[in-house]
Formats: sequence, C-alpha cells, structure tokens
Amino acid sequence: MILPIYIAILILLGLIGYPFWKKSYIVKKWRRSLKLDRHEDTFNRLFQDVNGFALSQKARSHQDAMEYTYGEIEFTSFIALIACTNPSPQTRFYDLGSGTGKAVFASAMVFRMQACCGIELFQTLHEAALQQQQKLQQLPAYHHCSPIRLICGNFLQVDISDASLVFINATGLFGETWEKLNHRLMHELQPGTIIITTSKPLISMPDFQIIHTTRVSMSWGIVTAYIQKR
Ligand SMILES: C[S@@+](CC[C@H](N)C(=O)[O-])C[C@H]1O[C@@H](n2cnc3c(N)ncnc32)[C@H](O)[C@@H]1O
Repeated sequence: MILPIYIAILILLGLIGYPFWKKSYIVKKWRRSLKLDRHEDTFNRLFQDVNGFALSQKARSHQDAMEYTYGEIEFTSFIALIACTNPSPQTRFYDLGSGTGKAVFASAMVFRMQACCGIELFQTLHEAALQQQQKLQQLPAYHHCSPIRLICGNFLQVDISDASLVFINATGLFGETWEKLNHRLMHELQPGTIIITTSKPLISMPDFQIIHTTRVSMSWGIVTAYIQKR
C-alpha cells in the first residue's frame, strides 16, 4: 500500500504545479508497469466527444436536486487512488452514480478485475456510457479488459451486495439520500468490502473503519478521498 500512496502524493504535487514529478523515476516506472500512457491515450480518445456536464444539465432540466450535481474523475489521479486498494482479479468494483462511466472505464482498462459496474440514474448519461462501451469493445487491445456492466437505476435500489470495492463521488451527496445510502452500505455490503468516498467519510462508524485518507484530483478541484473498510 505504501508505494501507491507515495505515487498518489507525487501525482498530486505534479497537478498543483511541481514539475519534478514528471522526472520522477518511481512515477515513470509505475506508469510503465500499468501501461498508463497507452490507457490514458485511449481513455481520452474514447471520451473526447462526450460532454457529461452538458448531458447532465439537460437531464436535470426536468428533475433537479443538489445530489445530481455533475463532476468527473481525472484519469491518473483516480488510477493512483484505486491502486491504493490493491485491486485483484477477484475485485468487483461499483461506481455509485457513474455518470458517463469514466471511473468504470478507467478501472476496467487498467486493472484486471472480476467486474466493473456503474449505476447511473439519468438515462442520457447511461446511454453515453453504453456508447463508450461499444467503442471500447471494438478495440482489439481491450477485448480482454475487465468485464463492464452499466446499469441505469437508482443506487438506493440496485443490488450491490456482491461488491468488494465501491467508489462514491460523494461531494454533492447530502441529507436524506446520503443517510439512506449509508444505511444500505452498512446493511448490504459484506465485511471486508472497501468503500472510497470523496470529500467526506461514511456516517456509519464504527461499522466502517477509515484505513487511509489521501488527496485526489477531480474535475472541480482537489478533494480528500476516504478509503474505508466494512
Ligand atoms: C459527481 S457525478 C460522478 C460521476 C462519476 N462517478 C465520476 O466520478 O466520474 C455523480 C453522479 O451520480 C448520479 N446520481 C445522483 N444520485 C443518484 C442516484 N440516486 N442513483 C444513481 N445515480 C445517481 C448523478 O446523476 C451524477 O451523474
């Protein structure tokens, strides 16, 4: 766990303007070991014409709430965050509120996992994610990437009981939705499941133990990420 955390810190320093990270031998070696240059290039090409912010804004013109606020992961910083949890071929990853699927695709492209699932409420965002899945399937280099499952639904209702790693971009989640989600996680996740939340930890202590905190870069800025264990 020490190496990914060190890498996460180095990448973050790079993001806030320290140029030395580019030269850092350790980060370069880490990027090479995960083939990050190739994956990031494919990821950027996959999403170059996808504007999740505009799709979300359009969808929210009919139904809006604070918890629907849109934002996205940044590729390298997110990969460094997931690497902190040591994903394996047994990992079943869920992104609760997956938007256009950036966190799901980044995970599936870089790591070998049993499944990478995204649950998104809005149909337009879900359909954009489905289109990227089709594009990815056409790339021979990604025929054997981790299986991707995209679900259009409410994360308060979809079954997530088989998850072993859950990511929640929780910065915009408050009030009743946040409380209900915490309640679900506490009652439905298996002991040992890792849950990552941004900006705030889960409410339900001591059922969840914070095993690490780090900083991660998102589309709207740098936030704290809490890595917790059920
Ligand atoms: C901040 S965005 C995060 C997108 C993606 N996880 C990422 O980090 O790149 C939060 C997403 O959660 C979705 N969302 C909010 N409430 C939801 C719910 N109850 N069920 C499913 N998705 C929800 C929003 O529509 C939005 O796309």
